[in-house]
Amino acid sequence: MGILLQNGKLLELESGELLAREVLIEGNQITRIAERIEAAGHETVNLNGHVIVPGFFDMHVHLRDPGFEYKETIETGTQAAAKGGFTTVACMPNTRPVLDKPELLRYVYEKSQAVGFARVYPYGAITKGERGEELTDMDALKEAGAIGFTDDGIGVQNAGMMRSAMERAKELGLPIVIHAEDESLSGKGCMNEGEVSKRLGLPGIPGVAESVHVARDALLAELTGAHLHVCHISDASAVDVVRWAKRRGIRVTAEVTPHHLLLTDEGIDGTDANWKVNPPLRTEKDRQACLEGLLDGTIDMIATDHAPHSEEEKKRAFQVAPFGFVGLETAFPLLYTELVEKAKLLSLHQLVQKMTAAPAAIFGVPGGRVVEGGVADLTVIDLQQERVIDPAEFASKGRNTPFAGWKAKGWPVLTICNGRVTHNEL
Ligand code: DOR
Ligand code: ZN
Repeated sequence: MGILLQNGKLLELESGELLAREVLIEGNQITRIAERIEAAGHETVNLNGHVIVPGFFDMHVHLRDPGFEYKETIETGTQAAAKGGFTTVACMPNTRPVLDKPELLRYVYEKSQAVGFARVYPYGAITKGERGEELTDMDALKEAGAIGFTDDGIGVQNAGMMRSAMERAKELGLPIVIHAEDESLSGKGCMNEGEVSKRLGLPGIPGVAESVHVARDALLAELTGAHLHVCHISDASAVDVVRWAKRRGIRVTAEVTPHHLLLTDEGIDGTDANWKVNPPLRTEKDRQACLEGLLDGTIDMIATDHAPHSEEEKKRAFQVAPFGFVGLETAFPLLYTELVEKAKLLSLHQLVQKMTAAPAAIFGVPGGRVVEGGVADLTVIDLQQERVIDPAEFASKGRNTPFAGWKAKGWPVLTICNGRVTHNEL
């Protein structure tokens, strides 16, 4: 017996057309897509005219397990993913201990198989303990299923170390995923360096702390032939560097977060650490550069950098509170509402493409398309439903978002991952 989705509209990712199609799921596969499918012997689900898209991908998520389970667990983090329409997440290794050994990656895989509500692909650390001193056994981490290598949360300060990591990663055919931050420039900064930080008297992180690392690593990628993926791009000059590197034929890809596309440092008053994130919210000029980069293909995909923290931690003074926003449960409705509906900068299919087919192709993982014979990873969106974002309703343990109280449309009402219903509000 399969699951037959009836009365839905299938979004064509290339043309943007919405096609009246029924979709049959048997086991973990999509076995048929047609205008009419014989229902006998299947469980039917009425989609009430809502839109069917591939399950979303988020290649930048902090699941916090092992070690910081008070912030998030694999169970709650993937529940948040499912609620946000995500079927695939890649998780960051800045856990405790850091994911720098094969057995730790296997732990994440096994636990996500047992309790997870999404496909989980862990990154392995570039350096042991993310200390920047000694490379991990990258071969063993690949063997254990690493989808790429990153020291996310901190930049790799030593260029020679980064070069060696890229040489190894190139051999292994996996990307180096960078948190671009030169600590000699970012120092003790807690927000973007500029007018607002000066007004508030808070130490700033200049945009160049990001762009000099992007430039350095683009050149190292050219030298080594490695695939460089730039995380959470936020600075205008960093976007320019990626554009330049792509033109030059360097193998570089980049992601941007919903918060860097929608917010600036003007929203920071210096008291609410739910506005503190790294890289920091920057200026309107930087935000526009990120939007432009997304539109012209310089920036390949959207990733949330879902970074849950406890309420107690986020209540601390702005300067000492941890960096990070949760993002999984609000990403799609916010981007749909603000960029597709209101600003009309992107079309629905362009937005969905940046959250599905693009990351699937770049990281070489299943999903990203709703096709016969493909994996049964899909999401159904109610484009009309409008809700006010209320962190108290999150499945994530993290409530730390600057978007509380925002009204948004386009909520995922059904998520199916590997043939299994992981979220259902139909
Ligand atoms: O805001 C952030 N939070 N940026 C990072 O780079 C790390 C992350 C975290 O782990 O909390
Ligand atoms: Zn991160």
